Amino acid sequence: MSLAVETTAALDVRPLAGTLGAEVLGIDLSSPPDATQAEAIRAAMRDHKVIVFRDQTIDRAAQKDLTRVFGPLLRVPFVEPMADDADVIAVLKEADEANVSNFGGAWHSDFSCLEAPPAISVLHALELPPLGGDTLWCDMAAAHEALSPGYRAMLAGLSGNHTGRPYGTKAALKVPNPSRSIKMKRNDPAADLDSVHPVVRLDPETGEKSLYVNPVYTSHLSGLSREESRPILRFLQEHATRPEFTYRHRWRPGDVVCWDNRRTMHLALNDYDGYRRLLHRTTAAGEVPIAAA
Ligand code: SIN
Repeated sequence: MSLAVETTAALDVRPLAGTLGAEVLGIDLSSPPDATQAEAIRAAMRDHKVIVFRDQTIDRAAQKDLTRVFGPLLRVPFVEPMADDADVIAVLKEADEANVSNFGGAWHSDFSCLEAPPAISVLHALELPPLGGDTLWCDMAAAHEALSPGYRAMLAGLSGNHTGRPYGTKAALKVPNPSRSIKMKRNDPAADLDSVHPVVRLDPETGEKSLYVNPVYTSHLSGLSREESRPILRFLQEHATRPEFTYRHRWRPGDVVCWDNRRTMHLALNDYDGYRRLLHRTTAAGEVPIAAA
């Protein structure tokens, strides 16, 4: 990835960290991106995996227009959307919620338990704590590339089992004491899905190979016991989240951040008890993962 500012016909794109993350300037998202802008936004996403638009004044319709630049809107299982808008989730933790687990507080790639997991997610920051509440992303393609040739060869034939079961009809929530502000849909059979995905996934657009396992949904490696899988999955998580593969976003009201779930994991920090944090979240559909072998 080049660290130079890239000026396309439509937009300025300024990298924010060593391997992923870029700020996109020169666009007002309150009206739908035109075809040239949409292509420039998709190009920035291909190149940087996480893209940041600052100082945007947008409503939910405009957020959905931006999300559709990447693909059709996707409604996701087991998290209640807003009562008056089934395409939008309010990611909220109230000021009076202390010692609760937050939404997205462990490294994950969104809903990887689905057969065709989301491609892109979009967050728009509305109310933020005066400090804390940052979000981190890690670059799963850079992490894959940094493995030794022998380890990459060992992973090439492997698949991972991903499950949403802890959130579905059998739901004993994995996390203790969840925030009451995120409404989890209980008894949702759509969350009981198990999917098998390649451990190394090919991005057909960039040709990049990315690790595609995460500690929230990947229960074990196919054909291996959980005990046998654990050291490999633990190593991959520790390796992928090394600081040099990460971008940490310090939110400002009006920020809009879009990320590629196929080539990243992310984590929302929960270090702001006593303050309200509210973001709107939308999702673009993705494809069934393709093995990189
Ligand atoms: C998520 O979508 O996982 C939550 C991210 C955040 O709240 O920063």
